[in-house]
Amino acid sequence: MNHLIAPSILAADFANLQRDVEMINNSEADWFHVDIMDGMFVPNISFGFPVVKAVKKYATKPLDVHLMIVDPDRYLKDFADAGADSITVHYEACPHLHRTVQAIKQLGCKAAVAINPATPALLLQDIIADLDMVLVMSVNPGFGGQKFIEHTYTKIAEVKAMSANANPDLYIEVDGGVDSHNIAQLKTAGANAFVAGSSVFSAADQPAFISTLKHS
Ligand code: DX5
Ligand code: ZN
Repeated sequence: MNHLIAPSILAADFANLQRDVEMINNSEADWFHVDIMDGMFVPNISFGFPVVKAVKKYATKPLDVHLMIVDPDRYLKDFADAGADSITVHYEACPHLHRTVQAIKQLGCKAAVAINPATPALLLQDIIADLDMVLVMSVNPGFGGQKFIEHTYTKIAEVKAMSANANPDLYIEVDGGVDSHNIAQLKTAGANAFVAGSSVFSAADQPAFISTLKHS
């Protein structure tokens, strides 16, 4: 399976959001990564439904919605209605994770679970077979532009090993500090979907940089 690139619109220019959505449409990117932060699960607030719907209106590629919110069950249907194609919830935010994953699937969305840097991969053992994707956080969630945590390579290899028998078609996505210098090593470790925010949007030639990531 060729790897996927998911630019994070958290790093887009919100005053020129349509322009940036169309840049991604016309690039080699595969998904739009949409970061939702509630100021509770993470110490930052990003944006809500009106922005997701605005992106959906122009996006020609799937919306990969990453919920960094407490008790995400409250809003799964709203995000599906707003246009999410996949919904990622955090392991740390879901006391009844199996129920949450089934609810996402019943809404017709791909179901994914994210783990924070300090959460062991092993905790996914009893849910990994039910998932479409695991999201390994390579920074502490809440902000774009943070430094990549090196332990992520080990964590990805652990998820890859767990999925080998239980779920060989699993997407293993990595999010935080991904750029052209670490993507090849992350791919070697077992990741096959890459979120990139500041590295994409700070590039002088954004579509060319996306192509660089896609062919790394
Ligand atoms: C961080 C978000 C990321 C963020 C990544 O909490 O989940 O998706 O947009 O941004 P960069 O690529 O700048 O680390
Ligand atoms: Zn994210």
